[in-house]
Amino acid sequence: MSQQVFLVTGATGAIGKAIAIQCAIDHNHTVVLACRNKDKAKSVINEIIQLTGNLSIFSALVDLSNYHDICQLAERWSGPLHVLINNAASAPRRRQETREGIELQMATNVLGYFWMVKAFTDILKNSGSAQIINVASYWAGGLDLNDLEFNKRPYHNDTAYRQSKQANRMLSVAFSDKLKPYRIHVNSCHPGDVNSTLSHNLGFGGHETPGQAAQTPVWLATRSYEQQTTGFYYEYMRAVPCLFGRDKEAIQKLFIRCETYTKI
Ligand SMILES: NC(=O)c1ccc[n+]([C@@H]2O[C@H](COP(=O)([O-])OP(=O)(O)OC[C@H]3O[C@@H](n4cnc5c(N)ncnc54)[C@H](OP(=O)(O)O)[C@@H]3O)[C@@H](O)[C@H]2O)c1
Repeated sequence: MSQQVFLVTGATGAIGKAIAIQCAIDHNHTVVLACRNKDKAKSVINEIIQLTGNLSIFSALVDLSNYHDICQLAERWSGPLHVLINNAASAPRRRQETREGIELQMATNVLGYFWMVKAFTDILKNSGSAQIINVASYWAGGLDLNDLEFNKRPYHNDTAYRQSKQANRMLSVAFSDKLKPYRIHVNSCHPGDVNSTLSHNLGFGGHETPGQAAQTPVWLATRSYEQQTTGFYYEYMRAVPCLFGRDKEAIQKLFIRCETYTKI
């Protein structure tokens, strides 16, 4: 069996690290961790190698809230990419902006996923067949297409977070339609409730372990081509009806809004 290449964003965090570990258990998998902190990435690589014995674990430094950083990551990439797992997210308690002036949750949680898919589309297309897993959440809703960056509404991190996770689910459907002809399958999922920096900022604890939360994204990511689906939202390894994925008009509007951010 030829080597399958996985790219996992936010792999220094609670769930991302667990996803990377579970992907690395199979030594036919090369796992690349897309992280912004070099030291954290190094330590996670060592941990994964120790735990799994898989030596094909690498890191790629990238700020996932920055369009140009993501484009450069894709330009530097050599070889195939079979599985992209968008997982990195943040939920700062106060409204913050990136150096380009984009509200941080919109930039990282929504555009970070969107830009990764866009930047890696050609690479995924040339890899035979590929999958994109967007780690979203059941905790989703309240998207305001007229105020994606909380310029008109008061910022609350939970409101911005729920909006961003709704957007993940909607954009997964948009990309699944666009990429299906190229044998690229796109699904989103809820991982599980885990104690992490992100959940702590949102004021939640967690009753599941990172390992449990990694199960659904890893199950999706490692299914054979024949078993794969596209355009679905999953919880606990089951497809769950998703109202956000049915509103094609809103999905199209959101997609167009996201595209305007690729011109910055
Ligand atoms: N925890 C839960 O209960 C829960 C429930 C439902 C869904 N989720 C989803 O699961 C995913 C992972 O969440 P988590 O709980 O594991 O969060 P976490 O532990 O806080 O990890 C977040 C990860 O994202 C990275 N990250 C944030 N901003 C970044 C940026 N600009 N550039 C590069 N990397 C960046 C962080 O990097 P650093 O290590 O450098 O900070 C970290 O690796 C998220 O998509 C979240 O929405 C979580």
